[in-house]
Amino acid sequence: MNAVTLTPEERRLVQREWTRRVEAEYRSAAITHHLTLWLLKLVAPFELIRAGLSIVDDELVHSELSHAVLVAAGGGGVPPMEPATIGLRHPPDDELLRAVVQTSVETFCLGETVAVRLFSRLRAPATEPAARAALDRILKDEVRHRDFGWSLLEWLLSTPQSGVVRDLVQEMLPDMFARLRTNYAYSELHREGSPSPALGAFGLMPTPDYAAALEETLTRDYIPRFGAHDIDARAAWEARK
Ligand SMILES: [Fe+2]
Ligand SMILES: [Fe+2]
Repeated sequence: MNAVTLTPEERRLVQREWTRRVEAEYRSAAITHHLTLWLLKLVAPFELIRAGLSIVDDELVHSELSHAVLVAAGGGGVPPMEPATIGLRHPPDDELLRAVVQTSVETFCLGETVAVRLFSRLRAPATEPAARAALDRILKDEVRHRDFGWSLLEWLLSTPQSGVVRDLVQEMLPDMFARLRTNYAYSELHREGSPSPALGAFGLMPTPDYAAALEETLTRDYIPRFGAHDIDARAAWEARK
C-alpha cells in the first residue's frame, strides 16, 4: 500500500482528530465501567454485565489503536485528562435506575448506534494501514456495543419498573437528541463538503457527512427501534427543533 502524503495542514488535522479519538475512546471505557457497576448493583442479567465488562476492554483497545494512528501521522503525546472528568458521577442508590436509563439510552442506544453508521462511512475510504486497522476493529465492536444498548433497554422495559423506565426515556429523549444534533453538526446537513483523499485515507471526513450519518440513523434505526417499544422517536426528535 502506498504511503499517504499529508500536507502540514492535513497532518495537523489528522493529529488533532485522532488525539480527540484516543481521549474519547478512553472516556468510553470509564463510562462503561461505571455503567457496568450500576448493572451489578441492579442485579441485571449476567450476560449484560459480562457484555459491559468486555466493552470496557474493547474501548481500551480502541484508544490504543487510535494512538497508533496518531503515531503514524507523526504525533504521539496525549493531553492529560482530569480524573474528575473521567467516567460518570455515581448516583445515590435511589437514583440508580434513572442513571442507568440515561446512560444506556444516550451512550449506547443513541451514541453507539450512530457510531456504527459513522464508522462505516469513515472506514470506507481509509487506506492508511494504522487508520484502517483501527477502524476495522472499532466498526466490528461498535455493532456489538449498539446491540448491548438495545438489549439493555429491552431488559429495563421487561422489569417491574418498566413504566418508570418508559416515562424516563420519553422525558429524556428530546434533550438527548438535541445534544446529538449539536455533536454531529446537524445544522450542516445539506452543506457541500469537500472530501480530501489524504484525509479520507486517514479516516477523516467533512462535517456535513457526520450530519448525514445522523440523519440516516434517525430514519433507519432510532424511529423503528424505539417504535418497537412504543416510543415515538420522531416526536422526540422534533420536540426541541
Ligand atoms: Fe469505541
Ligand atoms: Fe463503543
